[in-house]
Amino acid sequence: MTSVLVPSDSLEITQEFAFSGADFQRVQRLIYDRAGISLHDGKRAMVYSRLSRRLRESGQRSFADYLDGLERASGAAAETEWQEFVNCLTTNLTSFFREEHHFVALAEALKPIASQPLRLWCNAASTGEEPYSIAMTLQEAGASTARLLATDIDTKVLATAQRGVYAADARGLTPQRLARHFLRGKGDNAGFIRVKPELARVIEFRTFNLMAPSWSLGEPFDMVFCRNVMIYFDHATQRRVLEHIHGVLKPRGLLFVGHSENFTDARDLFHLRGKTIYERA
Ligand SMILES: C[S@@+](CC[C@H](N)C(=O)[O-])C[C@H]1O[C@@H](n2cnc3c(N)ncnc32)[C@H](O)[C@@H]1O
Repeated sequence: MTSVLVPSDSLEITQEFAFSGADFQRVQRLIYDRAGISLHDGKRAMVYSRLSRRLRESGQRSFADYLDGLERASGAAAETEWQEFVNCLTTNLTSFFREEHHFVALAEALKPIASQPLRLWCNAASTGEEPYSIAMTLQEAGASTARLLATDIDTKVLATAQRGVYAADARGLTPQRLARHFLRGKGDNAGFIRVKPELARVIEFRTFNLMAPSWSLGEPFDMVFCRNVMIYFDHATQRRVLEHIHGVLKPRGLLFVGHSENFTDARDLFHLRGKTIYERA
């Protein structure tokens, strides 16, 4: 146990693991290099709480020891621990039909092209509510040959997404959509819903880091959903990701971004087409 003085009110708190300012800066650098995530100084308590769980599980005594081990490790064990480190530090908040106007716009955009073999990508898929919302909209629009790639850097949330099981009172689902796209659990599974197989079949789940230096994702996409992830990136990183997305989208393809993300200064790549909806130049 170590005691630290919190400067703002001089309250003494007891911490299970030693966590210095230098340790925090090291975490900031490592997660930035690996995932592009910029953690500002106000995130120190969050980092302590998220990573201390991992220190406990891996039997480490201090952040310095844990980070030394992480940076020294090699081979498969290193990959596993780096993934755990990333999984601890991502923020995965999401819900079905979050920012509903995007799904109204998607349904509208699908009308003239629903019969074409469309390819869409949702690249911060988190626990799956967003890709399933896209897949439901595709089905409801009659886009029966459309396919969706759903990716995230975090393997733990992707496993949840792939399972496709949610609380029956999950936010954002109408009774009509619940009946059409989900199975209701019975007995031990009461209180849960599972995505119907015909909806799950639309989606391929895969791990993908938006910081990957080169992107090989197959045929160009008709639409890309990149929502509420760029807020964690600095301006230079956002620009790099936008250039990559530009490279994998078809000309005039649509890019959907989060409510607080604004890329109007990337006019050479995208034109604003609606509320947080861009068209590839
Ligand atoms: C706040 S959630 C957004 C979920 C969903 N897109 C939405 O808008 O509801 C952000 C997601 O971005 C993912 N993420 C963070 N950094 C990433 C990176 N470098 N590459 C891919 N995904 C990343 C996180 O794991 C997390 O699941």
